[in-house]
Amino acid sequence: MINIVVLASGRGSNLQAIIDAIERKEIDGRITAVISDVQGALALERAQMHGLQPVTISYKEFSSKAEYEHKLLKTLEELKPDLICLAGYMRIVGAEIIKKFHNKIINIHPSLLPSFPGLHVQKKALEYGVKFSGCSVHFVDEGVDSGPIIIQAVVPVLDNDTKETLSSRILEQEHKIYPKAIQLFAKGKLKIEGRQVKWQN
Ligand code: GRF
Repeated sequence: MINIVVLASGRGSNLQAIIDAIERKEIDGRITAVISDVQGALALERAQMHGLQPVTISYKEFSSKAEYEHKLLKTLEELKPDLICLAGYMRIVGAEIIKKFHNKIINIHPSLLPSFPGLHVQKKALEYGVKFSGCSVHFVDEGVDSGPIIIQAVVPVLDNDTKETLSSRILEQEHKIYPKAIQLFAKGKLKIEGRQVKWQN
């Protein structure tokens, strides 16, 4: 049973998918805290509703990114998570935290990486004219959405798609692959070899 900390900035639908999978016993883990950099984030309410510890570390209250990161690092060190899941966490994780929790931080991203890293990627995928997009769960390294990929799901882009319709079909897949990736991690089945993540039996 692994201890998981989830970092989320917003509505927390991926957090909800993780909570639901844990409650269905599809993940051998428990969430020990949900941390948000945004006061009043819906993700914190979801945590509370499920009896999980909500922690606010409001970015706005800190005078520099370094100070915020320091507080976040100290909080994470106290919680000692086996895995940190970024679920709509809208900040780049600083180098010190990445070093301290090496290969223990994962993220969900709404594109087929390495295409379209960064923000507003469903819109970018539509504008580019790709026929397929999707989502990726990956380990977090120092770059932006650049760490080794654990699992992906493909979503066709339809001629009449809008940013909203494409985002919502991608989100459906996010809610499936994120819990799956977490369970693979919890079971010790992920082996990182360079850029490749192999699934052990
Ligand atoms: C998701 O699309 C996720 O891939 C991206 O941010 C969005 C967060 O949504 N990183 P939610 O807060 O989990 O509902």
